[in-house]
Formats: sequence, structure tokens, C-alpha cells
Amino acid sequence: MPIDEAIYSRVLAKRRELDKLRPFDRGALAKLQETFRVDLTYNSNAIEGNSLSLSETKLVLEDGITIGGKSMREHLEVTNHSKAIDFVQSLVSKPVIEEIDVLNLHAIILDRIDPENAGFYRRGAIRISGTTYSPPSPAKVPALMQEVYGLLKSRGGEPIETGAKIHQRFVDIHPFIDGNGRTARLLLNLYLMRSGYPPVIILRAERKKYLDRIMQARAENDITPFANFVAKAVERSLDIYLDSLGQNPGEYLDLAEAAKISKNGYSQEYLSLLARDGKIGAVQFGRNWKITKEALEEYEKEHKS
Ligand SMILES: Nc1ncnc2c1ncn2[C@@H]1O[C@H](COP(=O)(O)OP(=O)(O)OP(=O)(O)O)[C@@H](O)[C@H]1O
Ligand SMILES: [Mg+2]
Repeated sequence: MPIDEAIYSRVLAKRRELDKLRPFDRGALAKLQETFRVDLTYNSNAIEGNSLSLSETKLVLEDGITIGGKSMREHLEVTNHSKAIDFVQSLVSKPVIEEIDVLNLHAIILDRIDPENAGFYRRGAIRISGTTYSPPSPAKVPALMQEVYGLLKSRGGEPIETGAKIHQRFVDIHPFIDGNGRTARLLLNLYLMRSGYPPVIILRAERKKYLDRIMQARAENDITPFANFVAKAVERSLDIYLDSLGQNPGEYLDLAEAAKISKNGYSQEYLSLLARDGKIGAVQFGRNWKITKEALEEYEKEHKS
């Protein structure tokens, strides 16, 4: 089954609009990349359980400050992830992505956190907490991973779908003892960027949906549910890029407007708090948080009082 038509046609239209703006304004692009670094690091690490907030993550990355009361490990997760983004960026223009690139990426993510396993496939069985799924035995991992490398090398399909498949096969195999989610999210981004798409951020606020879609895609042996989820994240990134390059992304409400239509009676201040804590699927355009009607309604439905 292909990606949902409504989402996909919006993505294509927005991508065409973005391509017309190439080459991008250098200053705007540099700003986008810096914001992306902080936001992706925060969200990806928060999904994994890191307790640093968005603003703490920013302080660590931009000012080299350590946060009182937070462990060395949590700080390393932040700085390693940022280095991993640099590494992914360096792979965007590499002719062919190979196994060694993926092992090196993982080595950066677990650098000085787990030296024995950083950059090596797991040697033991593994359980994914919170699920009954058991990934394949370690002996099978190197052979199964060939499919992921094949997908990473492939060209010509629909990039969002292939990127989603790379992520899905990767997490189903669960090749490493830890760091699989972070590596998978970066490989998805690598493939999208190699295909001319902006990078995507899976938000901490949508963690549950993210995990549900992964499980649904495996249960149904159909990538569509997860690919649709990725396509929405691509659309969000396209909106952010278009906005910062001076185009109107449309469809978004600022938080004052959102407060006016809030069914649960949330104030602008409360929505802003939820946004900064990564609890609601809001998106930051420059300094302003905005939200789609859909994301607001979704949160309100889940939190009916
Ligand atoms: N039932 C499942 N089947 C397959 N993959 C799953 C399932 N549940 C979660 N995952 C994936 O596995 C990841 C967790 O694996 P792991 O702890 O190795 O990665 P991590 O990078 O340390 O943590 P996280 O992915 O939570 O950031 C999840 O992020 C998700 O991508
Ligand atoms: Mg983990």
C-alpha cells in the first residue's frame, strides 16, 4: 500500500516549493541546521529516556555548560548525538553507504558510554522493554543487516517509504545492545537528506504513536502505517524550512489562537509550557511555538478531564 494520498500530495507540493528556493539563503540555512541539531538531539534522546530538557540540551551544546545534578552519561548522550549528526551530515554526499558507516555511527552514539559495545553488533539475546517482541538471535544479525545496507544503497524508489523501511528493518533486527532507536532515527534522516528532503524530527510528544506505528507495521507486514507517520514528520520539516525562507507554511495556529479554540480551556501559557516540555506536538518556528489544529485536538482528546 502506498503513502496516504492527501499527505503525499501536500509533501510533494511543498517540496517543489522548497526546491524553487535553492540555493538556500546561507544565513537562514545555518540557523535551521543549528536549531535542527538541538531539537533532534533533545527529542531523540528524550524518547530514549534522557532527562535533559530542551533548554538544558541547548546549553550543553551551544555553551558547553554542564547541568547540575545530571549524570556524566546524560551529558555524553547529548554531545555524542550532536557529533553523530555531524557524521551523518558528512555521509550525505558519500557515493555509497556501507556497513562500516553504520557501525561508525553507532560507535559515536555510545562513545565513552559503553566502549565494549560501541560500534559492535550485539553478542547476546535482547528484549525490548515494554513489548513482547523478541528480536532475532545475535548469530543472525550480520546476515539480516544486509537487507538494511541494500536499502541504504538503493535509489529510485519513493524516499520516504524507503527511509521508513530502513528504520523499520533496523529496529526489528535490533542489531545493537543499546542505541538502536537513536541510530535508526539518524539513518532515516541520512536517507531522506541523500534524497533531497530536509531532515525530520520524531517528537518526544509523539513517542507513543511512534512506537505503536512500528509495532503495527511489523504486525501487518506493511510499512504504510509507519511511512505515513514519517511523511507527516517530513511535512512538518518542509513547513519549518519554508517558513524560515520567507514562505507561509499555512495551517498552523499560534498558541494564542490555539487557546481560543481549546476544548479543554487551556490558556496560551499552559500550551506554551506543554510545548516546551515536549508534551504536545507543537513546532517551533524561529522563536514562536505553533501547532496544527489536528495536534491540538489529539492532545485534548487524550487528556479530557
Ligand atoms: N516493539 C518494538 N519492535 C521493534 N522496535 C521497537 C519496538 N519498541 C521500540 N522499538 C524501537 O527500539 C528503540 C529502543 O531501542 P534501544 O533502547 O536500543 O534504543 P535507544 O536509542 O537506546 O533508545 P530509544 O530508541 O528509546 O531512543 C525505540 O526507540 C524504537 O525505535
Ligand atoms: Mg536504550
